Amino acid sequence: NLVCSELEDLWSLLPSLPLSSSFSLSPSSVLGLGALASITAYWLVTRPRPMRPPCDLKAQSVAVNVSEARRSAILKDDTLLEFYYDDTRTAYDMFQRGLMISGSGPCLGFRKPGQPYEWISYTEVAEQAQVLGSGLLAKGCQPNPEQFVGIYAQNRPEWIISELACYTYSMAVVPLYDTLGLEAMVHILNLAEISVVICDREEKAASLLENKEKGTTPKLSCLVLFNDFSQAFVERAKSCEVEVLKLEQLMVSWGTLTNCPCIKILPYKMFDCLRGFAVCRCLNLICPLCFFCSFHFSFFSQGSFEIQQDDVSISYLPLAHMFERMIQVSMFCYGARVGFYQGDISLLMDDIKTLKPTFFPVVPRLLNRIYDKILGSVTSPFRRALLNYAVKRKQAELSSGVVRNNSLWDKLVFNKIQESLGGNLRFALTASAPISPAVLSFLRATLGCLIFEGYGQTECTAGCTFSMPGDCSTGHVGAPLPCAMVKVVDIPEMNYYAKNGEGEICIRGPSVFRGYLRDPEKTAEALDSDGWLHSGDVGQWLQNGTLRIIDRKKHIFKLAQGEYIAPEKIENVYMRCVPVLQVFVHGDSLQSYLIGIVVPDPEVFVDWAKDRGFVGSYEELCQNPDVKKAVLEDMSAVGREARLNSFEQVKDLYLHPEMFSVANGLLTPTLKSRRADIRRHFQEQISSMYSKKAN
Ligand SMILES: *[C@@H]1O[C@H](CO)[C@@H](O)[C@H](O)[C@H]1NC(C)=O
Ligand SMILES: *[C@@H]1O[C@H](CO)[C@@H](O)[C@H](O)[C@H]1NC(C)=O
Ligand SMILES: *[C@@H]1O[C@H](CO)[C@@H](O)[C@H](O)[C@H]1NC(C)=O
Repeated sequence: NLVCSELEDLWSLLPSLPLSSSFSLSPSSVLGLGALASITAYWLVTRPRPMRPPCDLKAQSVAVNVSEARRSAILKDDTLLEFYYDDTRTAYDMFQRGLMISGSGPCLGFRKPGQPYEWISYTEVAEQAQVLGSGLLAKGCQPNPEQFVGIYAQNRPEWIISELACYTYSMAVVPLYDTLGLEAMVHILNLAEISVVICDREEKAASLLENKEKGTTPKLSCLVLFNDFSQAFVERAKSCEVEVLKLEQLMVSWGTLTNCPCIKILPYKMFDCLRGFAVCRCLNLICPLCFFCSFHFSFFSQGSFEIQQDDVSISYLPLAHMFERMIQVSMFCYGARVGFYQGDISLLMDDIKTLKPTFFPVVPRLLNRIYDKILGSVTSPFRRALLNYAVKRKQAELSSGVVRNNSLWDKLVFNKIQESLGGNLRFALTASAPISPAVLSFLRATLGCLIFEGYGQTECTAGCTFSMPGDCSTGHVGAPLPCAMVKVVDIPEMNYYAKNGEGEICIRGPSVFRGYLRDPEKTAEALDSDGWLHSGDVGQWLQNGTLRIIDRKKHIFKLAQGEYIAPEKIENVYMRCVPVLQVFVHGDSLQSYLIGIVVPDPEVFVDWAKDRGFVGSYEELCQNPDVKKAVLEDMSAVGREARLNSFEQVKDLYLHPEMFSVANGLLTPTLKSRRADIRRHFQEQISSMYSKKAN
């Protein structure tokens, strides 16, 4: 349930990112060690002044009057922030604000292979959205928030234009995505009574048409495509009473309407996002502003940190998820730019170099890869020593609140790394899963930009806590945002008690969703009668008022000797191992130790094994007992480093050559492990591992 933790899993399903050899130390870094002393002296002299945090970092949240909850220390009293700008309350308003600020300035960027970015202006986006929205009305959509329009496409400008088209006429967007799986897709199309779906390519439209042909989605009547499509497809659609149009055609159809209906624009007040089989309805959009408004509070007087009109972010995380959509509307609110990747994750680094983003939204898995790549590129002992020394110096500077990319260390050691990310980064935001403190602190030093960590989930419009500007410490997810109150409640069976500052994290406030669309039962499970959203995550309040995520509420079992095991926590640790792509940790009260099912990462496994003297294909390596032993050793080492107890370490493994996926029934539509099904599926291997050890 961590912010769209689907995202993180989704990422693991994408082909891994070839970071090429772009991460290397600058040639100029080959210096005599003797020079280090004088560099240090120079650094001391040129050290800039630290950033002023918006509140005392030793007391980032305070107890709410007569309640066990806590709220942001930035707030003056217990009144939560609902809107940052009084006239900016919806996604539509936020775009309008950007339009007002930027006008004909660039808004959405895209590129063809090898070309520079081309930009569509705010004015053009607003105009196209209005015309497209009118076109949707001409196709029978009603201008009200109960009208759902599907969008089934990769991130690209048309996605945003279509979304804004809906908001312009108070309609709601339901994003669809591939990994949702057929069953969930059909369920959602019917639940939201969707008649029009906007798609990027014919293949996607065809998969929707297939359902219509089978009679499972009777309401579907119109498919709108970004790309060209075949005449055969039009005929096929016609035979099951579905109209197929190009996006431009829909826009033209408005222009040709002679009797244009007069439409009263009701700016869209709700924000919908898919959550597995459900559609989340969030009342309004304060959260994205809250994400960034702590910056305002802190830097308003200095004016040195808030999103600015010349900020640029790169869009590659799936727009079907709240995290990416929140980021985009936040950018629009300030009249800033969003550049889209080409749609091919293997070209992402090239897109980043070309776009030169100032803002990099990212998930821990990608940051881990960047970290591994940097360390992997430094082989000579001298360079490694230099890197470590430089990182230590930068970290010391960071701990006193100084964030910069122009120290001598940046110039000498880190500039190649920074250039490979475009050389313009001002800040990054990681969410969706916990990030290792070591990786975060290393990257804060080497990238020389602010890296924030957020925590939340779709049901609270993506964010409920956020790390404070100026706080460069790690191991927590920051304090509650000004729009949310957070409390922890007892979980006796797991021995967590609120009186000790530990328990299930619950969230209340205007950013919490109103419920799942047409699903009161599931809504009641998530939202209690007092309006608290139960997250299922276990948190701990730290002395300085920040929150640390320590566990997940569900999935807990006892081993034979009575030790409690939370397998997901252990799996998160093992995910840090280079050869591991997916891992499932198993045990039960009849056994005294844990075992694991591991799917090795196809991108790196063969090379990883080769480095250790094992040769063979991916499948062969999976069957090699010595390779298994090497993987197990690697996992144990990572486990020790993360301070797993010895009973929390797996004692045997099975290497499985096929990914857990939605298609093979081992992942849920939100890409979480179906634990019971995985257990059943691997029953034979599990029994054999336990019987082998017993002998
Ligand atoms: C706390 O709430 C009580 C009752 O609502 C009120 O009388 C008291 O003044 C409040 N204290 C503070 C510090 O706001
Ligand atoms: C350093 O950071 C500033 C903004 O803080 C940015 O404008 C500049 O491009 C960055 N330079 C490099 C080399 O990353
Ligand atoms: C907040 O407390 C945690 C845990 O004690 C610590 O690791 C972190 O450095 C502290 N942060 C600040 C800014 O004091």
